[in-house]
Amino acid sequence: MTTYKITLTRRWPEAVEEQLRASYTVALAESDLPLTPEQLAAALARSDALCPTVSDRIDARMLGSADIQTRIIASYGVGYDHIDLAAAEKRGIVVTNTPEVLTDCTADLAMTLMLGVARRAGEGERHVRAQAWAGWRPTHMMGTKITGKTLGLVGLGRIGLAVAKRAHFGFGMRVIYFDPSPPPVEVIDAVGARASDTIESLLDEADFVSLHCPSNAATFHLMNAERFEMMRDSAFLINTSRGNVVDSAALVDALQNGQIAGAGLDVYEGEPAVPEALIGIENVMLLPHLGSATLETRIAMGMRVAENLEAFFTGNNPRDRIV
Ligand code: DGY
Repeated sequence: MTTYKITLTRRWPEAVEEQLRASYTVALAESDLPLTPEQLAAALARSDALCPTVSDRIDARMLGSADIQTRIIASYGVGYDHIDLAAAEKRGIVVTNTPEVLTDCTADLAMTLMLGVARRAGEGERHVRAQAWAGWRPTHMMGTKITGKTLGLVGLGRIGLAVAKRAHFGFGMRVIYFDPSPPPVEVIDAVGARASDTIESLLDEADFVSLHCPSNAATFHLMNAERFEMMRDSAFLINTSRGNVVDSAALVDALQNGQIAGAGLDVYEGEPAVPEALIGIENVMLLPHLGSATLETRIAMGMRVAENLEAFFTGNNPRDRIV
């Protein structure tokens, strides 16, 4: 029986690595450091399957190399903006992702950021750790209530819908959304959301704006200086989608000029680098791309990759095939 060679570019949860080792010859990135472009190209040249994460850029130059053994890129993550899909397709390489299994956890994290920044949880924690707390008093660290407020969702896919459900049923929020390709009306009605005709009208109405759109040419810097101006000065921006959906320089300006009340961010343009200016601003909550980071979800994501590989190597169409 052929043992296929697969390369994992980072450490995966132990249960998944173990399961993959039982079926394949697995090259593991023992150091858990990002592979260089040269190392990724070498992995494409020597592996039947490459299993990157959302932080590995697989570009057209790599995929255009004469020396490629890889027939499937089974990515660990739902987003696929890190892979040049057209180049993979041209090369006849199948690409898969891991949708659905991380929806709830990512929605939970969007709520964490919303509550965290509105209720000043990060600031409060820093305050206590700095031993600066002088005790309870009526005007100390007053935040903003989220219950009953208006949440504007940019993108109403799986994660947007899961956030809508939490916000509407858990916090009595009024949910509006903008999505050029919305889900069926009964799905929208079930989470109590109402369409905004334009992103501009959504920005004008929302107390919280949460981004749930994919990263692509159409959404690059969707939140720019002009759109920050359209937000209420009492409103908060939440981003758990991709960093480049937000023009980070414009966001820093909007925060410094008081054009918006705060931001909760899990993703950044050019991450893991985080703009120095953001780090110095108190009314932002900054997390290190933790949307899917629970043990249960990270195992489920790995198992979904295993399922896609199994289908592919047994001659079937993987369930999460993108190209
Ligand atoms: C994804 O899967 O795209 C997230 O950003 C990481 O879980």
